[in-house]
Amino acid sequence: MSEPDIAQKAPYVEELEAGTYWWCACGKSKNQPFCDGSHQGTEFQPQKLELTESIKVWLCGCKHSCDKPFCDGSHKKL
Ligand code: FES
Ligand code: FES
Repeated sequence: MSEPDIAQKAPYVEELEAGTYWWCACGKSKNQPFCDGSHQGTEFQPQKLELTESIKVWLCGCKHSCDKPFCDGSHKKL
């Protein structure tokens, strides 16, 4: 398994409406923290995030979280 690119060593704090989102797992998207299709040709796939209500989320920017798509503090060890 290759390592994902580190988009940033900090979470993306987002206020999201209810709906379906695709979190970028590869780190290559130009529309962080969401997938823009740049993972094509890599072994990474975006991760689906379904929200039933508006919520503030801390989405992992370093792509190394053990609780993807959310930040779990792992970026501090990179
Ligand atoms: Fe990173 Fe799609 S662009 S998972
Ligand atoms: Fe990836 Fe915090 S930004 S674990």
